Amino acid sequence: MKLFDVYPINNIIIEKAKGSYVWDDKGEQYLDLYGGHAVISIGHTHPHYVERLTAQLNKVGFYSNSVKMPLQEELAEKLGKLSGKPDYQLFLISSGAEANENALKLASFHNGRKKIVAFKKSFHGRTSLAVAATDNPAIVAPVNQTPNIIFLPFNDVAALEACFAAQGSEISSVIIEGIQGVGGINVASELFLQSIRRLCTEHGAVFIADSVQCGYGRSGKFFSQDFADVDADIYTMAKGMGNGFPIGGIIIAPHLQAKHGMLGTTFGGNHLACAAALAVVEVIEKENLVQNAAQVGQYLMDELNKIPQLQNVRGRGLMIGFDVPEAFKDLRKNLLWKHKIFTGEAKPNVIRLLPSLALRKKDADQLLEAIKEEIQVGAEA
Ligand SMILES: Cc1ncc(COP(=O)(O)O)c(C=O)c1O
Repeated sequence: MKLFDVYPINNIIIEKAKGSYVWDDKGEQYLDLYGGHAVISIGHTHPHYVERLTAQLNKVGFYSNSVKMPLQEELAEKLGKLSGKPDYQLFLISSGAEANENALKLASFHNGRKKIVAFKKSFHGRTSLAVAATDNPAIVAPVNQTPNIIFLPFNDVAALEACFAAQGSEISSVIIEGIQGVGGINVASELFLQSIRRLCTEHGAVFIADSVQCGYGRSGKFFSQDFADVDADIYTMAKGMGNGFPIGGIIIAPHLQAKHGMLGTTFGGNHLACAAALAVVEVIEKENLVQNAAQVGQYLMDELNKIPQLQNVRGRGLMIGFDVPEAFKDLRKNLLWKHKIFTGEAKPNVIRLLPSLALRKKDADQLLEAIKEEIQVGAEA
């Protein structure tokens, strides 16, 4: 059997990983500033993570949501504290798309409405509603198309107000990434997030903060929406939540009420997944990784800003993007193949940095040196 060929891949086989580094099958070391797409939050193979998962696997790896699971309750308790949302409710699934799918559905169950407001350049996943609310027609199959999604320009308060004025009573939810990831690292303004909060409250719509990529401490606060000092009604999470173990979650404000059978999943919140998520929360807390993301991220952004050839350096914490001018269009490729540094990208010319939240200043310096060298070489060519 062949693999279904949907991924453009780099010809690298990763055999070992530790902290912010991975090694290929030839023993070559790479600095990982991509984290397998913003997934590695506490660093690869963190000892506490390995130990907690191994111990759990030796006890019980899986059982479904038909039995009591103290691990889920422990996770809800610790996550409530870490995220600053102790009165919210936790529902567990296994991926980011599933998190958004359930959030959109829950909002609609709650207010009985159908319309969803989403934004230009958004990415919310590939399941049916999540992809319908994603601004990329190339990945929306005909069967996913629905007239229920209203796409508005990002950070445009006037357009949002006009939309609510015209059809506020039909809007079920507004879904927004606090920092757009796949769209190229676009930070939602504080005024925009505050306006979403105000309009949702006025019109009985549900504010869904897609925090799958920008959440879990990556921005230097637990949720990037926290910078605007607003509470969303539902936060969706995945990626960094399990440091590579597939787990996602939605946390739900107290006024949204559960009913048996309303949502459900076989794998969500199983024993191993909870052990992974607990290990992550414990390490984030013990090692102050949210603060580290804020500090090392700020340092990296300040230093990138000093390189005049890089344009429009932006982001928050360890979610950083910058535009690469045409003259240095091979920069990302050269960082990988010459300097052995993994980075992410966004079309057409953005380099995205999504490293572990435990990134050290000296790892950041390794990237800065490599970029400076490449720019020097490019200028001499
Ligand atoms: C903001 C955002 N939401 C949702 C998703 C979908 O997550 P998953 O790939 O785990 O389904 C992603 C994935 O990149 C994302 O960046």
